[in-house]
Amino acid sequence: LASHRGNSFAPALKGGLYEAIFRRRDIRRFTPEAVADDALARVLIAAHHAPSVGFTQPWDFIVVRDLERRARVHATFQRHRASNAAQFTAARRAKFLSLKLEGILDAPVNLIVTCTPGRFGAAVLGKTSMRRVEEYSTCLAIANLWLAARSEGLGVGWVSIMSAAALRRIFEIPRNVIPVAYLCIGHAENFPRRPMLETVRWQRRLLPASIVHFESWRGRTRDRGLTRALTDASIWSGIREKSGS
Ligand SMILES: Cc1cc2nc3c(=O)[nH]c(=O)nc-3n(C[C@H](O)[C@H](O)[C@H](O)COP(=O)(O)O)c2cc1C
Repeated sequence: LASHRGNSFAPALKGGLYEAIFRRRDIRRFTPEAVADDALARVLIAAHHAPSVGFTQPWDFIVVRDLERRARVHATFQRHRASNAAQFTAARRAKFLSLKLEGILDAPVNLIVTCTPGRFGAAVLGKTSMRRVEEYSTCLAIANLWLAARSEGLGVGWVSIMSAAALRRIFEIPRNVIPVAYLCIGHAENFPRRPMLETVRWQRRLLPASIVHFESWRGRTRDRGLTRALTDASIWSGIREKSGS
């Protein structure tokens, strides 16, 4: 990789990375076009290059195309969606039920990402007090996968409205293995400019400066330079332009 200044990427490469980050979306609508094996392989290998605690690489990936198993997953999604809906107030419930929140049967490929804690034994470098570090590592693999897929023009949708127990049953996942993510993958109908949940006014993106704290959670003295940069219209509009929001 051509370097620009010091260790930074050349502008085009850097732009490409931010492009993947800001133009990634959760995708629920797919075209029927098949996913090329080489593209899917690159995406899986990108996931496998994520950081992991103690280099444990706790992830496995189950590639699912079989429609019968997917129909069983869809049925569990529908049951969980109904109980999820019950948590919301009446107005929000109606909105929730109107949203398309999965592409289980439409996407050409479904993918289960699992985590096997203690894959190389119970003693793990970096795992003493924080017990779930292998699950965090698995989520980083998913983040890599999601961004790499975006660069390939592939959409990824994470469906969490289902139970781990059902996934274990349907896909014969052993008890010591944790199903972390159920993903739908395929060519996106389109990559919306903003998160669907923002467009339908379910939730707004928080301002970057509102989520950065200084010295302590309750820290009152803001670091002026960083705060200015976080709220700088040119930085922010650059991002907004890229993400199109
Ligand atoms: C752990 C996790 C679980 C999610 N589960 C669902 C889901 O069940 N259904 C869905 O439509 N989106 C799901 N999403 C996608 C989020 O709604 C989405 O990431 C968020 O609204 C921001 O939109 P964006 O990903 O397009 O930027 C999930 C995302 C994550 C990280």
